Amino acid sequence: MAELSVRHLLGIKDLTREDIELIFETADHFKEVINRPIKKVPSLRDITVANIFFENSTRTRLSFELAEKRLSADVVNFSAGQSSVKKGETLLDTVNNILSMKVDMVVMRHSSVGAPHFLSRHIKANIVNAGDGTHEHPTQALLDSFSIRERLGQVEGKKVCIFGDILHSRVALSNIFALQKQGAEVMVCGPATLLPKYIGELGVKVETDVRKALQWCDVANVLRIQLERQGGDIAYFPSLREYSQEFGIDKALLDSLDKEIVVMHPGPINRGVELASDVADSEQAIILDQVQNGVAVRMAVLYLLAQKG
Ligand code: NCD
Repeated sequence: MAELSVRHLLGIKDLTREDIELIFETADHFKEVINRPIKKVPSLRDITVANIFFENSTRTRLSFELAEKRLSADVVNFSAGQSSVKKGETLLDTVNNILSMKVDMVVMRHSSVGAPHFLSRHIKANIVNAGDGTHEHPTQALLDSFSIRERLGQVEGKKVCIFGDILHSRVALSNIFALQKQGAEVMVCGPATLLPKYIGELGVKVETDVRKALQWCDVANVLRIQLERQGGDIAYFPSLREYSQEFGIDKALLDSLDKEIVVMHPGPINRGVELASDVADSEQAIILDQVQNGVAVRMAVLYLLAQKG
């Protein structure tokens, strides 16, 4: 049976194209399962998964938890806000205490870049990175590509532009790696202050004009301004109002193009800032498909990592 080349999912950077294809084929199967009247399969019976979230999350945490439950895993949840982390415990101590209760897999979100990589060197459980600071968010990029493949038939050869706050986004970096590994062309577009200086060296096109970027792409993946990750005194743009005038995407703008593009957003959307409601709620947007696919893709990742022991 085919298996992944890794035993942790820390970042898309570590995956091969074959890994991504295997995850998608497995997710196709699980997507069919979760549309059945009985949505549960026994694949992870006897496996215990801890969801350890040191940072806020709605979609990602619910999505992982549903994925785990639909695979019949035992699930424990931990949010740093309500834990002994607040009493000064180290990350390694916190996680070792959880693992001593015989946990097999850890899904972790942390505000520090590299936190899940650090843990993977010190503990035996399989680790899934659910977002580490501004670095990677691999399952988001996988579900994004899976959703493009579902809507457009394939990812290879497609032109995908990622819009917005690229500098503070872990979704952007994971998407760039995932799309390139599958043979898509990638562009980033946003205010120059929110584009990392050397981003072009990753082999992506760089654009600051939204209309030109939209005209180029088949798929627009629109990101939120990550205000909570922008240092308080630094202004990257004059105001949200100005940002939305220059970089916001609305229906009138999309209708003025000479083609119809697919619109994505990882959530949470700041309606009226980066994306207008008349786009977010339109047929062109596959935002809720992304959420639905997230469960199937995460089921695939957990299932395949469990095979690696
Ligand atoms: C993203 C995240 O947390 O990195 N959201 C998500 O996982 N769906 C993007 C964001 O917070 O803007």
